Amino acid sequence: MDNDHDDKSKKDKIDIIMKRKEEHINICLDQPVQAKSVRTLFSDVKLLNNSLPEIDYDDIDTSTSFLGKKFSAPFMVGAMTGGAELAKRINSNIAEAVEELGLGMALGSQRAALYDKALEDTYTIARKNAPNAFIGANIGGAQISAGMKIDDINRLIEMIDADALYVHLNPTQEIVQPEGEARYKNVMEGISMIVNSVKKPVIAKEVGFGISPMVAKKLESTKIDAVEIAGMGGTSYAAVEWYRAKEMGLEQKVDLGNLFWDWGIPTAASLYMIKRHSKLPLVASGGIRNGVEMAKAMAMGASLTAMALPILRPATKSAKDVKDFISKLLVEFKSAMFLVGAKNIDELRRVPFVITGELAIWKDYADKLVL
Ligand SMILES: Cc1cc2nc3c(=O)[nH]c(=O)nc-3n(C[C@H](O)[C@H](O)[C@H](O)COP(=O)(O)O)c2cc1C
Repeated sequence: MDNDHDDKSKKDKIDIIMKRKEEHINICLDQPVQAKSVRTLFSDVKLLNNSLPEIDYDDIDTSTSFLGKKFSAPFMVGAMTGGAELAKRINSNIAEAVEELGLGMALGSQRAALYDKALEDTYTIARKNAPNAFIGANIGGAQISAGMKIDDINRLIEMIDADALYVHLNPTQEIVQPEGEARYKNVMEGISMIVNSVKKPVIAKEVGFGISPMVAKKLESTKIDAVEIAGMGGTSYAAVEWYRAKEMGLEQKVDLGNLFWDWGIPTAASLYMIKRHSKLPLVASGGIRNGVEMAKAMAMGASLTAMALPILRPATKSAKDVKDFISKLLVEFKSAMFLVGAKNIDELRRVPFVITGELAIWKDYADKLVL
């Protein structure tokens, strides 16, 4: 009797997660889900045009390494999905493309695979199609707070032979999400334990609301290996959950989604502030939309850049569509390197830039901040 009940509640949980995953994908494909009036502030970063680059475009080397893994360029596809049939196709196409291009990807939250082994292949398809590329496993801060076991975390890592484990921090999403679990007690302690227990590097990431220098400092004290900023200015998960709340007629959640749609720290501001106050390797993400913004993020000290939403549509079509999309970005990035006279990533990270406009206010704040 009890077993029947457990099986039913497990199945209910799986159904809810699968349905939610599909809704997230479809909303992101069909609706405007990006920040409305907040920008990443990369437009306030000005790289200086170099009319005497003294290099040939073809001699530029965009390769870099991140957490011990070589990348042909400092770019990876940000965490998106898994746990549903459409998600499997998306992960399959992204994996095939990043393998061919020598880049990397992170998977979406793998919680669903812990409940149901049958969903594993929506994640393992990534490693199957990308035997050499960097692939990140993914779990949520809320699951850590709920006491997820180290054995389960290791299982998620092993499932895809991951190169790193991402822990996503998404309190804003949990507030707006109809089934949200706004429980974030003991997440720091949990992250410390994970960093000490798992054999792979651990990366903390936001989901589009940015990480403050204070939180970065706390994360650094856990000996975490890197932070992915996922700042404000691109996809807003308050927006994504707003559409779901609206569909369900949950008035209070709709209001919260509206209020927090543009909540968060603009990506360039988060990047500058964390760089100013910590030595953590940083993945710049959240609203990065072209190769010039990638170059700006690298000049500001990022180790890598990532993009999620713009890859989603091509990934529903084919690996070639993903590859074509990313290849165009990489041409833009290499062109920017040419125009600032950087023949490799080390040089790019030393080129001059000017901070203007609203970002200058964030800079001033960070420069005066004592942490
Ligand atoms: C369809 C979709 C699903 C996502 N699912 C996850 C997830 O499961 N785990 C996670 O850490 N981030 C998730 N994200 C957040 C992204 O990794 C990224 O941080 C955010 O979208 C900001 O980047 P962007 O503006 O380039 O989209 C998701 C984003 C999208 C668009």
